[in-house]
Amino acid sequence: MKALILVGGFGTRLRPLTLSVPKPLVDFANKPMILHQIEALKAIGVTEVVLAINYQPEVMLNFLKEFEKKLGIKITCSQETEPLGTAGPIALARDKLIDGSGEPFFVLNSDVISEYPLKEMVNFHKGHGGEASIMVTKVDEPSKYGVVVMEETTGKVKKFVEKPQIFVGNKINAGIYLLNPSVLNRIELRPTSIEKEVFPKIAAENKLYAMVLPGFWMDIGQPKDYITGLRMYLESLRKKSSAKLSTGSHFVGNVLVDESAVIGDGCLIGPDVAIGPGCIIESGVRLSRCTIMRGVRIKKHTCVSNSIIGWHSTIGKWARLENMTILGEDVHLGDEVYSNGGVVLPHKEIKSSILKPEIVM
Ligand code: GDD
Ligand code: MG
Repeated sequence: MKALILVGGFGTRLRPLTLSVPKPLVDFANKPMILHQIEALKAIGVTEVVLAINYQPEVMLNFLKEFEKKLGIKITCSQETEPLGTAGPIALARDKLIDGSGEPFFVLNSDVISEYPLKEMVNFHKGHGGEASIMVTKVDEPSKYGVVVMEETTGKVKKFVEKPQIFVGNKINAGIYLLNPSVLNRIELRPTSIEKEVFPKIAAENKLYAMVLPGFWMDIGQPKDYITGLRMYLESLRKKSSAKLSTGSHFVGNVLVDESAVIGDGCLIGPDVAIGPGCIIESGVRLSRCTIMRGVRIKKHTCVSNSIIGWHSTIGKWARLENMTILGEDVHLGDEVYSNGGVVLPHKEIKSSILKPEIVM
């Protein structure tokens, strides 16, 4: 089986992290977002992943080469010369997706995280005999998403409305599709939206089916949702393979620490924290609801909550970071600095406190 991941877009809402790498390469729970998806695809027997990209393909491919070998999966790139939306890239990659087997292929949005019940989806797809399957999930605020109205018993989609202005339902498109090769005949090679132009037509012919996603789901394309997504991910990890989470008197709740990270004496870490490879957390540090990316050093007695600390940054002693503070790559914060929601661009040195949420350039 093959899969295509939609990797377009500039990831502006995850700046300053996306000033260093394309959004799919931003770490989530200690590995690039896109690896969570590639690993899940590999696990159910997908042999080739096509990345539909519209900028910086070299950066992505160089990075993923290493994982191609490690995971034993082929990763190729299909590059647009102009953004083709969410359906155009599928038409562009047509030749890569058809292999003569007649098997369906996966299409994934690159900015969603979930338990990826892909095996269940394949079974669901085979069972209904339609042309396309989409995964749906319930949310409180459906207007930001594509809303799906379906028959509860069969899953047959009656209506697909992208970003509805008025309430039509609370089950939304989770951005995970399984499509028969025949869907390719419905998509023209031009900028076009699968949500607005393709799904409504397949639904009108009664050939679109939706499966309710078991487990958690989150679009992690913005900092607040990224932090919520980490909480959900770690909770699901606790249920599935709790041995991966840290235990001991230093830790409260769900905490994921890379084995190469060093944690000093008297720290209190958690809940909902991820600490990446090579991090050094000195003694007496307090961390909660935050992500500390690869190579970060946090000095003594500092407190970080509800924040994301970018790669190779350092934070001085007795500092306090909170309220969606985001440090880009290689930021250096002095001793005793306070940040209330500061968003700091890469390679900056910060010596004075940031008292209200603002971007520091
Ligand atoms: N290659 C390529 N080219 N990819 C693109 C382009 C493009 O021109 N435009 C968007 N994408 C990719 C994005 O990178 C993302 O992975 C995916 O297509 C969806 O685009 P978003 O911009 O993130 O859309 P959204 O979040 O507003 O809505 C989509 O996702 C929701 C779930 O998070 C829709 O699919 C909704 O129906 C869905 O509910
Ligand atoms: Mg999105």
